[in-house]
Amino acid sequence: MSILKDSFGRKFPYIRLSISDVCNFKCGYCLPDGYKIDKSDNRTFINTNEIGRLAKALSELGVSKIRLTGGEPTVRKDFLDIIKIIKKNSGIKKTVITTNGYRLDKIADQINNSGLDGINISIDSLNPKIFEQITGHDRLQEILNGIEKLQKLNFKNIKINAVLLKGVNNSEKDFQDWANFIWKNKIDFRYIELMQTGDNIDYFKKYHVSANKFVEYLNKNNWVIQTFGKDSGPAKNYINPEYKGKFGVIAPYSKDFCKSCNRLRITAKGDLRLCLFGNTGINIRHLMQKDNQIDELKDLILKQLNYKKESHHLELGETGLTKNLSTTGG
Ligand code: 5AD
Ligand code: SF4
Repeated sequence: MSILKDSFGRKFPYIRLSISDVCNFKCGYCLPDGYKIDKSDNRTFINTNEIGRLAKALSELGVSKIRLTGGEPTVRKDFLDIIKIIKKNSGIKKTVITTNGYRLDKIADQINNSGLDGINISIDSLNPKIFEQITGHDRLQEILNGIEKLQKLNFKNIKINAVLLKGVNNSEKDFQDWANFIWKNKIDFRYIELMQTGDNIDYFKKYHVSANKFVEYLNKNNWVIQTFGKDSGPAKNYINPEYKGKFGVIAPYSKDFCKSCNRLRITAKGDLRLCLFGNTGINIRHLMQKDNQIDELKDLILKQLNYKKESHHLELGETGLTKNLSTTGG
């Protein structure tokens, strides 16, 4: 049972933990010019021991799932150690990761052996040219090879996310390409509507599109919405018995999106973020230094939850502290 609860009755069994701001991709909506060090902030990324203590405190607060994000989490040499320390000591039931997949074909074996409970891979298009245009890298085939390796190893719970972009990956043909993919593969595919951040205002204006057209496609092709899911959060999932995988949509601008919020975020430098787009974020790292600080750390997180707001107010163009999603991993 999650003890983490806010003043609107929402519970938080799920934490997204960034372990690195660094990313080697240049996605147009996120880091179009590539990753640049923030010279105004010379703090290092939280280390394995700090993460181990944090995970333990979170687990004692009833958190059951931690997602490691970035930046790109696998750029960290010790990222397998991070998975291991969470799996070993903390009591967290599910540890999962969101990655751009660039090293997947090389590390599939290690990932499979690490005890990781699931992987989300970002692939914005199955067309190699478009993939390259969006990410700045011609690496689609490598990533697909990595996925195939994981499947051969019988790794369970593979998901793919794509950011929906007007005129880039939102045609019927794109939808059909993904349908063919999940017909053959037991992989869930989701479109995420593009979100406006401090850095991407022009990009957003040009490429943001609502997921309605995709939802119409789903309705037309016998996909049925799946209600519930205990820790499913704000995604809407669709099933079709003829397909091995599922489709899904994350529509952050839709009404009531924030009502199903079930997650908090912690940045790679140890700031607690109550909302992807909130202005509130305090550092909690000083309480990750010693084993005997765990109770204090738990108290601080609990107190902070009182400041969580009801909605992100993205529809009002508020983007909060969020310049781009590379520090908070989407
Ligand atoms: N809007 C929507 N999704 C985004 N992501 C990164 N930036 C944005 C944005 N502005 C996605 C990535 C990845 C996930 C971690 O977040 O593509 O799938
Ligand atoms: Fe890197 Fe993810 Fe941002 Fe793309 S969206 S640049 S893969 S952090």
